[in-house]
Parts: sequence; structure tokens; C-alpha cells
Amino acid sequence: MLTMTGSEIPSDTRAEAIDMRDLAAYPTDRRIVGARCEEGGVIVDWDDGRQSRFHAVWLRDNCACSACRHPQAMERQFLLIDAPERITIQEAQTTLGGHLLVRFGAERPGDAPHVSRFDAGWLRHHCYSDWARAERAWHPRSWNALGNSPGTALIPTVEYKAVMETDAGLAEWLTAMRDWGVVLLRNAPAEPGEGLRIAGRVGPVRPTNFGTSYDVVSMPNPNASAYTPIGLEPHTDLANWRWPPDFQLLFCVANEAEGGGSILVDGFSAAEELRRCDPEAFDLLSTQPIDFRFQDETCDIRHRAPAIELDHAGAFKSIRFNNWLRAALDLPEAKVEPTYRALRTLWGYLRDPRFQLRPRLAAGEMLAFDNARVLHGREPFDPNTGRRHLQGCYLDRDLVLSRLRLLERRRMSEGEPKSGPR
Ligand code: OGA
Ligand code: ZN
Ligand code: ZN
Repeated sequence: MLTMTGSEIPSDTRAEAIDMRDLAAYPTDRRIVGARCEEGGVIVDWDDGRQSRFHAVWLRDNCACSACRHPQAMERQFLLIDAPERITIQEAQTTLGGHLLVRFGAERPGDAPHVSRFDAGWLRHHCYSDWARAERAWHPRSWNALGNSPGTALIPTVEYKAVMETDAGLAEWLTAMRDWGVVLLRNAPAEPGEGLRIAGRVGPVRPTNFGTSYDVVSMPNPNASAYTPIGLEPHTDLANWRWPPDFQLLFCVANEAEGGGSILVDGFSAAEELRRCDPEAFDLLSTQPIDFRFQDETCDIRHRAPAIELDHAGAFKSIRFNNWLRAALDLPEAKVEPTYRALRTLWGYLRDPRFQLRPRLAAGEMLAFDNARVLHGREPFDPNTGRRHLQGCYLDRDLVLSRLRLLERRRMSEGEPKSGPR
């Protein structure tokens, strides 16, 4: 039923966006052209021919009126537990502004029916029909050394000044981190502490047993392989933590020694190759937890997890691979040799030049990469031939993605008209 009579439609729905008590912007050029009750919910027709179905309980749960969502905190006040188990809808209609108005059945005899209004842009962005969820799904942009990639010389690159001084530069840096899993920042002052200053554009860094930031230099009594001049096979950092830091920032203060080039591998690409070429090994590494451990005078941190973590649909969630942090295998006897074999096979792809990028950091450059996805390593260096000094710190994904969303919020509020259907 498409009802376009203005009589019962409150004036706030005529042209303005509906206040969904949501600070994010949900721009859309689409308008709702029809709405009808059907099968315990509402079918919404859009002007581009798409159709959305919303269940009554979902609509009731997401009502953003001041009784259902706290006007200031914007958090849900509606109590699903106290609502009738079967929520019904009396009427659904399109408002003049192209939004949706829903009148629910009375919850108790004699109660006034609850009326909810849904902004068209918000609804379109929250539609959970298969087509909409497929459109919204995020996919990492996979790469290797050969193609479909940023390429050896083409690691996404941003300028220090743009990142530090502009929203657009910051957004570009973080978007590359999120989507490619690696980004090079260049032309920063080659000063100690600069990496932390850049990280401050996002938010507080994630401290670990190595501190809020750490100096990667060759030192006399190292408590970690990174603090020696030896080469580092591709690895993820802090694989021995239950929740390793999500993003790693490695800032180069000096890189004058012979050797010491960096190595980067898209672990999702390499693991995909393992899935294709050796499904048995892939299956083992993605299901069988193995042990990781770091110990020094101050800590002994251990965790057991599969090297490859998948979501329920088989998509990659994370890679955990670090030879010096791998603890003694504690597995059923029959799995010991197959696990070693599978680890060797995966390691072979990580070492394979087809999958490796080998940039060499210069003073004032910084690599930022997704530590749950992109493995990093380095060639050995000779500390007698010159100074090599990197500084590292970590950021959690929640804060990286939050910063990106805030930048988007600001871009929308500055660039877009505030009224009219979004
Ligand atoms: C590290 C590391 C690489 C390098 O500190 O985690 O892997 O280039 N360093 O020194
Ligand atoms: Zn409400
Ligand atoms: Zn490392």
C-alpha cells in the first residue's frame, strides 16, 4: 500500500531527514516509492527497482524515537525482553519526504499503537536483504609481487605532510592500511618519536610488553630477535598474545647499514595459494591451534591458536606466523608430523618471491601494515657498516576504523546539504 496522503504525516517527515539518533551520515539518492505490510514485516520498494524486507521485530527494535533511543546518549532504551513476543504491524506507509512510517499493533489492550519513522538513507544502508549485504561486504584488496597488486614499487604511498595536516591525507593513509594492509609514508622528519606523533593522528597506541613504542636496533643483550642484526623471516608480531596488535607502524630514523631491507607478504594471498595447492595443509593450519610463547625477565606470555583463522564463511580473519615465538608443539601424536609439514609448506609461499615485496626504508619513511594479515621481515644487516634505527608502535583496528568513520562523518557534514532525502 503506497499512501501519499499528507494528512496524518507529521511535518518533520516532509523534506527533512528523519533523526535516527545516529551521528553517521547515510547518503542516498534513492527514495522509497512503496511500502506494504507483508509476512510479519514490511516490504519496501525503492525507486531503482530494489526491494527490501524488514521484519516487524527488527523495525520495532530499531525505532529511534526519544522513548526507544536515549536522546543524548543515542543508545537503545527499547527493551526487547519486555515487548510482546509477537510484534505486529498495523500499517506501513511512505511519507512525502520519501521515508518510512510504521504503525505497530498495540502492545497491550488499550495501549496506543507505537509509531516509528525510518529515514530512507538509514534504511537503505541497514537493509539486510541478500543483495544489500553483498553490496556492503568488505573485501581486502589482495596483492603479490606480480600483479593484482600495488606492485614492488607501488606500495600505496602517502606524504607525511598530508597525513599530519589534512583530513583527506589522513583518510587516504588509513584507507590504504585497511584495504591493502600496507602503506608507506614518506618525507617525515627523521627524528626519534616521530612515529608515535604520526600514530597520534589516530588515537592512543596499543602498549605491549615492549612498551608504548620500541627501538629496533642491534643491542648487546637482546630480549628479542628483532634487536639483533640477524635476518627476520616473514612473521606477524606478538603471535603469542591472545589478541596481537592489529596494525604495526615501523618508522625509520636511520638505515645506513649494509643490508636491512624490508620484506612484506600479503599473508591472505599466500594462504589462498596454500588453500588452492595443498588443501590438507590448509585445513590443518586453519583448524589446529598451535602454541606461541615469549619469555624474558619480566614476562612469560603464551597463547594457542591456529596459524590461519577463518570466519564461518571461510574468509580470512587473521594469520599468526612467527618462527621465534612458536613454542614446542603440544599436539596429538598423529598430528605432529603433518603440522610440521603444513607449516613448511605455508612458509615456502611466504618465502616465495612471487609473494614478496622488498622495499628498503629510508630515514623519514614509515611502513604501516595490518599485523593480522601482512607479514613483515628484514634482510640481515651489518651494524659495523652504519647506523640502523627503526621505532615501532601499534594501533588497534577499532581506533583506526573509528578515525576513518569520524573523518567520513566530518566530510559529509561539511560537504553535503543537511536537508532533503539523503
Ligand atoms: C620488528 C621487526 C623489522 C626490521 O621490530 O617487529 O620485525 O626491519 N623489525 O627491523
Ligand atoms: Zn519508538
Ligand atoms: Zn616484527
